[in-house]
Amino acid sequence: MSEQTIALVTGANKGIGYEIAAGLGALGWSVGVGARDEERREAAVEKLRAAGVDAFGVPLDVTDDASVAVAAGLVEKRAGRLDVLVNNAGVTGGLPQEPTRVDPADVRTAVETNVIGVIRVTNGMLPLLRRSASPRIVNMSSAVGSLTRQTTPTAETGPISAAYAPSKTFLNAVTVQYAKELRDTNILINAACPGYCATDLNGFRGVRTPEQGAAIAIRLATLPDDGPTGGFFEDAGVVPW
Ligand SMILES: NC(=O)c1ccc[n+]([C@@H]2O[C@H](COP(=O)([O-])OP(=O)(O)OC[C@H]3O[C@@H](n4cnc5c(N)ncnc54)[C@H](OP(=O)(O)O)[C@@H]3O)[C@@H](O)[C@H]2O)c1
Repeated sequence: MSEQTIALVTGANKGIGYEIAAGLGALGWSVGVGARDEERREAAVEKLRAAGVDAFGVPLDVTDDASVAVAAGLVEKRAGRLDVLVNNAGVTGGLPQEPTRVDPADVRTAVETNVIGVIRVTNGMLPLLRRSASPRIVNMSSAVGSLTRQTTPTAETGPISAAYAPSKTFLNAVTVQYAKELRDTNILINAACPGYCATDLNGFRGVRTPEQGAAIAIRLATLPDDGPTGGFFEDAGVVPW
């Protein structure tokens, strides 16, 4: 098995995921670019390789069991194990998001990708992660999923949302449960908030760059063995639940 650290980033063809792949690649790691669209995936892999990253494409739709199984097989064949999984792929679920007007199908879409997708990919990759000396899992969440901030009148928590924000609250809760179950293993699993970044997700209205948003995920992907698990972090530190 290779000594080189092997990472997989979901939704790595653009936005924050792309920058996470670039950042991990700059560490000399081999990075799997998980993406569902072949053209967008190959374009990202090519761009990363041109920047000196040891990138490889991983066809991956996080909402599809068969796709995840094939992706795990591909990573196993390539590296025999996985050291770091960044569950970055995410969707807003569409508009409107106000609870009184939301289409239940949009709630389902958000949860299917942002929560169930993370569970599906994590469990699919877990056998490979267990072969690593220092496995790390980073779940890309959002501070809009913080119930503490949502109920603090002065906190900035974005538009009222019955799909996207609660899907991140759900993801945070799931992250805590994974950390509890995996407490006696060497796997560290944490949730990250990238801040409000200019990407497709928000029509490029964010005020931070995707590269800035990637920094917290890279920090959690490179935690030392005595690092935290079951936590929720942004650049400034702990995000309240
Ligand atoms: N931007 C922000 O301000 C912000 C703030 C807080 C948290 N976040 C979180 O950060 C993460 C990245 O978001 P972003 O802002 O970089 O958004 P983005 O530019 O829209 O990128 C989202 C990525 O997820 C992928 N994706 C969506 N559904 C997928 C599926 N079923 N299977 C595989 N990949 C899928 C997209 O692929 P396609 O190109 O194929 O659609 C794309 O690569 C998300 O989890 C988001 O919730 C973002």
